Amino acid sequence: MGEFKHLVFSGVQPTGNLHLGNYLGAIRKFVALQESHDCIYCVVDLHAITAQLVHDDLPGQIRSITAAFIAAGIDPKQHIVFNQSQVPQHAELAWIFNCVARIGWMNRMTQFKDKAGKDRENASLGLLAYPSLMAADILVYRATHVPVGDDQKQHLELTRDIAMKFNMDFMAKIRAAGLGTDIVVGDEPVHAYFPMVEPMIEGPAPRVMSLKDGTKKMSKSDPSDLSRINLLDDAETISKKIRKAKTDPDALPSEVEGLKGRPEADNLVGIFAALSDRSKADVLKDFGGQQFSVFKPALVDLAVEVLAPVNGEMRRLMGDPGYIDSVLRDGGARAGARAEKTMKEVRDIIGFVQ
Ligand code: TYM
Repeated sequence: MGEFKHLVFSGVQPTGNLHLGNYLGAIRKFVALQESHDCIYCVVDLHAITAQLVHDDLPGQIRSITAAFIAAGIDPKQHIVFNQSQVPQHAELAWIFNCVARIGWMNRMTQFKDKAGKDRENASLGLLAYPSLMAADILVYRATHVPVGDDQKQHLELTRDIAMKFNMDFMAKIRAAGLGTDIVVGDEPVHAYFPMVEPMIEGPAPRVMSLKDGTKKMSKSDPSDLSRINLLDDAETISKKIRKAKTDPDALPSEVEGLKGRPEADNLVGIFAALSDRSKADVLKDFGGQQFSVFKPALVDLAVEVLAPVNGEMRRLMGDPGYIDSVLRDGGARAGARAEKTMKEVRDIIGFVQ
C-alpha cells in the first residue's frame, strides 16, 4: 500500500477584519506546522466574491491577510503564500469538481444555508458551488492535511466525498495512465489519484466564541465589534473587550468537567490555553477557584503580549504593498507550477486533448 506525500494546505478569505478566531483556529496552527511540513497558504480571493460580488477595497483586504500570515510567523520563502486568483488551475479543477459533486451534497452544507439565508433562490451560483472550489484549492496540490477551525469540518468531509467519487469513477483510467497510489479507505483498498484529506481541527480553541455570547461563534460579520478581538486592535481595545466580555458569577472550576454548561467561562479558558500553547486542564490548575476579576486581567496581559507583536508587524508590512505583492507573485508562480502538474494529469485522466 502506498501513501501520499504529506502536504499542508489552507486558506483564509479576504473579507472583513481577521479576528482571534481566525488566529487561534487557523493562522497560529499554520505557523506551527511549518516546522514539520511542506505548507501552502492561500488568500482565497475567488471565494471572497461568492457572498458579495463588489468590495470597497479587495486589493487592500488581500494584502492585509497576506501581512497577517507573515506577521504571525509564516515564512513565504520556505513555504508558499499566494492569492488564489493568480493560479487559474484552482478554478479549472473547481469546474471539474462541479461535475463530480451532486447538487444534493451542496444543498446540505450548513454554511450555504446560513449565508444564503431565507432567500436561497437569490444566492449566487458561486455560493452554492463554494465547497467545490475549496476542494479544488486543496486537491490541485493533492494536499493531505488541512488546518482549519471547527466551522470548516463539513466542507472537508465534502472534499473527501469529491475525491472519493473522482477516484472511483475514473479508477480504470487512473490506472491505465500509470497514475495514482493504492490506499485503504475504511476497509476498502482504492487506487486513488486524490488523497483523502485529514482535517486538523484539534487544539484548545477549535471554535472561538463571541465575547458577548458564548453560544455564538466569533465572527467577522457580528454587528457588535465588542464580540470579537481583531488582530489590528491595540492593547487598550483588547483590554476593554476582555474586561467587558460576558461571564457568569461563579469562580473558575479546577477541572475541565466543571466548564460544562458555562459557555463563556469555557471560551475564555480555551482562549487562554490556545494563546499560551497549553491545555485547558493546565490553565485550570493555575486558575481553578479564582474569580473572573483575577482571571480577566491575566488574560488581557497574555493576549496583549501575544498579539501586540503581530499587530505591529502587520501594520509595518501593510505600509509596504510592493513587498506584499512581490511575495504573492512569487508564491503564485511556485504554486502555479505545482498546480499545472496536477492539471495536466487530470486532463489526461478525463480525456481532454492537450
Ligand atoms: P474563513 O476565511 O471564514 O476563516 C479562516 C479560518 O479561520 C477559522 N475560523 C475560526 N476558527 C475558530 N473559531 C472561530 N470563531 C473561527 N472563525 C473562523 C476557519 O475555520 C478557517 O480555518 N472556506 C474557508 C476558506 C477556504 C479554505 C480552503 C480553508 C477556502 N479554501 C481550503 C481550507 C482549505 C473560510 O471561509 O475560512
